[in-house]
Amino acid sequence: PVRALAAFALAFASLGAATALADGPILIKFSHVVADGTPKGQGALMFKQKVEERLAGKVKVEVYPNSSLYGDANELEALRNNEVQLLAPSLAKFEQYTKQLQVFDLPFLFDDIEAVNRFQKRSKGRQLLRSMEDQNIVGLAYWHNGMKQLSATRALRTPGDANGLSFRIQSSAVLEAQFGQIGASTQKLPFAEVFKALQSGQVQGAENPWSNIYSQKLHEVQPFISETNHGVLDYMLVSNSRFWYGIPHQIRVELEAIIDEVSYAVNKQAEAANQADRQRIIDSGRSQLITLSNEEREAWRNAMRPVWQQFESVIGSDVIKAAQTVNR
Ligand code: LMR
Repeated sequence: PVRALAAFALAFASLGAATALADGPILIKFSHVVADGTPKGQGALMFKQKVEERLAGKVKVEVYPNSSLYGDANELEALRNNEVQLLAPSLAKFEQYTKQLQVFDLPFLFDDIEAVNRFQKRSKGRQLLRSMEDQNIVGLAYWHNGMKQLSATRALRTPGDANGLSFRIQSSAVLEAQFGQIGASTQKLPFAEVFKALQSGQVQGAENPWSNIYSQKLHEVQPFISETNHGVLDYMLVSNSRFWYGIPHQIRVELEAIIDEVSYAVNKQAEAANQADRQRIIDSGRSQLITLSNEEREAWRNAMRPVWQQFESVIGSDVIKAAQTVNR
């Protein structure tokens, strides 16, 4: 019976492969908006490399970084149309498809990236991966970038210092409200336009993790960066549900195993990568780092915190409550 089972498994395996190979290897285009050297950029390349090693001839991966194939304005629609098969948009960019993920944008909700990690691993976080399946988007994993810092043309030490400035934000109503709380205006701009918008003075400030600031050279056009760690910028690795579940079983299982390994590696390395970029920014001497005392940070927290209440019914109080339990 063991031999029969093995033969069956073999036949089954080759059947899957044959389906995939009938029209050549399955092509997975992975598009994203950041540089290769960032946590997400590295994750995409690691995924490609492992697939090439373990699914050679069955699956082919093409990675398009830096908004070179699709950008923020159109990548999710391209995914739903199966013009691209993998993306890892920031959690702030799914507003059109689910409001629940806006929990990740709430300022000062998570104490640090470890708390974010715990939320993503627990049942509510896992559930959110499936929150867009009715719209043909399946969440495969969370990838960390890191905590956001505030950069500006002015030194921002108190919330009042931001008054009257215009900040570039990702397209999220929560982020718009967050800056409204400190008397600042906002412009929703695609990531590919951030450097130019800051350089030209179209906007005077932005919020980003260190890795995005460094790789986009934002510190060269933002003379001050306040280390606020006020919110998180993480990603959801997503695919087109119909495409994903249409992949022959054996191959999909291997792809999911690869994704688990890559996600583990990305999430393990992201914090160190951000700290290294933080140091590179300091060493460049182009931007002044402003560190906040506990009391100063508390003032930012108090100023921004009313946003939670504002979005409680939109996001769901169950989701917010679950997220609040992860701090230590
Ligand atoms: C941003 O638009 O600032 C980020 O979402 C870019 C990214 O993918 O890290």
